[in-house]
Amino acid sequence: MFDKPLILVAGGAGYIGSHVTVELVEAGYEVLIGDNFSNCDRTCYEGVKQILGREVPLVEIDFCDRTATDNLFATYPIAAVIHFAAFKAVGESVTEPLKYYRNNLLSLLNVVESAERHGCRNILFSSSATVYGEAEVQPVTEQSPRLPATSAYGQTKQMSEDILRDVVASKGLVRGIALRYFNPIGAHPSALIGELPRGVPNNLVPYITQTAVGKRQMLSIFGGDYPTPDGTCLRDFIDVVDLARAHVAAVTRMVEDKMEQPYEIFNVGTGKPVSVMQLVEAFERVNGLKLNYKIVDRRPGDIVAIWADTSLAEQKLGWKATRTLDETLASAWAWECHLAEQK
Ligand code: UFG
Repeated sequence: MFDKPLILVAGGAGYIGSHVTVELVEAGYEVLIGDNFSNCDRTCYEGVKQILGREVPLVEIDFCDRTATDNLFATYPIAAVIHFAAFKAVGESVTEPLKYYRNNLLSLLNVVESAERHGCRNILFSSSATVYGEAEVQPVTEQSPRLPATSAYGQTKQMSEDILRDVVASKGLVRGIALRYFNPIGAHPSALIGELPRGVPNNLVPYITQTAVGKRQMLSIFGGDYPTPDGTCLRDFIDVVDLARAHVAAVTRMVEDKMEQPYEIFNVGTGKPVSVMQLVEAFERVNGLKLNYKIVDRRPGDIVAIWADTSLAEQKLGWKATRTLDETLASAWAWECHLAEQK
């Protein structure tokens, strides 16, 4: 039924999952998307279809449903699974921790268990730089200590990494890669898929684009008195298409049997710190507009600075970020404009 290796993208209708689906198909893989649209609508799924000029097979499934997940792995010859099906709002996870523990952990347990049972050897997990917390030494390497998480969301990322590591070590039936994302931003160059937060955005770039398009009145820059060059926080903003290509490289390493350890971890960032203020100014310059913004109090829980050492991904995955911050910010704005035209 499938000529090429079949990759299950669990949560493939979401922001990162949809970009990964496009890159996988363009790299010659077959993709099966599993999603229950609980945290996204069909916009990106439709966008993927338009970009690729064909439909990507979709199974509507809740990965918290153990039987349904098992049936899926029993039905399809899945060569690798990429697991994105998780909630990701840090603040919400503090007020609704059970929702996060239930959804993010149960879905992972079901995916890993079914993969193991049905002979799918390769599991790629979407982890986060949040596992490093407020690291003392920058840039962080994969060997940097994981600090105690400050949110249930962060806890689920650490626990999920550990679950995968332990299962891989137990029977040798599966192997795993965890990709630790820094701050994914931007959209596909076609402007047909991108980030589509529900309600008021928590993250910086969607808040910027929604302010620029007039959906929000003003951007609050949280904190101007941090011990950084311009007083605002430093982050490693990674373009979502670059990020998606890191997944293709990691999947290829797995299915082509090139892993050196059965469980591997890679940072996925640019390696370059950019301040919140620099990002805002770059957005204004690149897109030729003025943003209404104000520096306000610090946001509780924010870390001052984090950026990636990306040398391991460069060496082992042959992957490196290629899109410039300007290109990325132009793509974020094109996507917001595309959404505005749809209304
Ligand atoms: N920021 C603002 N105004 C906003 C939104 C954000 O000034 O309206 C600032 C934040 O204070 C922070 C920076 O922009 O300094 C980035 O904030 P984001 O919310 O976009 O991203 P975070 O770095 O807080 O969190 C992101 C992901 C998490 C992940 C974490 C890992 O959203 O999923 O990186 O470090 F866990």
